[in-house]
Amino acid sequence: MMEESGESRKVLVRLENVDKAFGKKYIIRNLNLDVYDGEFLTLLGPSGCGKTTVLRLVSGLEDATAGTIYLDGKDVTDVPASKREVNTIFQNFALFPHLTTWENINFGLKMKKIPKKEAEKRIRSAISLVKLNGFEDRLPSQLSGGQQQRVAIARGIVMNHKVLLLDESLASLDLKLKREMQFELKKLQEKLKMTFLYVTHDQDEALTMSDRIAIMKAGKIVQIGTPDEIYDHPKNDFVKSFISDIELINYKKTRKEREAGKNNEKEGKA
Ligand SMILES: Nc1ncnc2c1ncn2[C@@H]1O[C@H](COP(=O)(O)OP(=O)(O)OP(=O)(O)O)[C@@H](O)[C@H]1O
Ligand SMILES: [Mg+2]
Repeated sequence: MMEESGESRKVLVRLENVDKAFGKKYIIRNLNLDVYDGEFLTLLGPSGCGKTTVLRLVSGLEDATAGTIYLDGKDVTDVPASKREVNTIFQNFALFPHLTTWENINFGLKMKKIPKKEAEKRIRSAISLVKLNGFEDRLPSQLSGGQQQRVAIARGIVMNHKVLLLDESLASLDLKLKREMQFELKKLQEKLKMTFLYVTHDQDEALTMSDRIAIMKAGKIVQIGTPDEIYDHPKNDFVKSFISDIELINYKKTRKEREAGKNNEKEGKA
């Protein structure tokens, strides 16, 4: 039931005919979205179009006004946030300032009463994945922005949930660090085979990192597809101007590399 006809990929997150109103104002209208298992899917759109609201609906921080939300095939529309198997990484990282790196990462495990031995094992592995070895005892104020970002990511992955929601998680980093973290985050997602539902209003970031992008406008998805599909075949003028009116340095560079790689494969080169 949760599988696309013709494709055998499992759907991990599904929003079906979802509406969200605040008071009488509808912010999300009849939204339908499938996120596949292991996919990096980005919601991209201008400020105020409803991206964060979609993440909050999936995590249970907001209730849908109408429609159904599924996680891993299960209807979770009425399941409270604390019982949904997702983690969110917020833009401001939301680390506890009085807790160390280790304690911040341990926080969710403690809440879930994961046995100490198992928790330690997971924390150690998460710390080494995000390359924070040696920073276990530091407070957030003693870490750089990028290091704090890594703590937030470690805290998200340590729960072993299949879905990670990321809301503008790299937005506050300077450009150089942002590029580095984009690369590392993508590598980590592929390595852990996790499903990322990612929110950004940075076009270049979306085109560079995502498997698929959903372009949103005023609470609706206007186009969904791979970065190349959206870049090459924008569905309407809105998508076209939204995607092409800016410099896409990283996307163009990585696309060139990708295509060069494919050609080499075809010709039997390494
Ligand atoms: N709790 C709320 N009560 C009333 N209106 C809200 C509430 N939360 C969000 N909104 C409104 O819903 C709309 C969508 O907000 P949302 O935060 O989802 O946008 P966004 O796409 O994430 O924007 P940004 O890129 O600026 O973060 C906005 O008009 C916002 O003012
Ligand atoms: Mg937002």
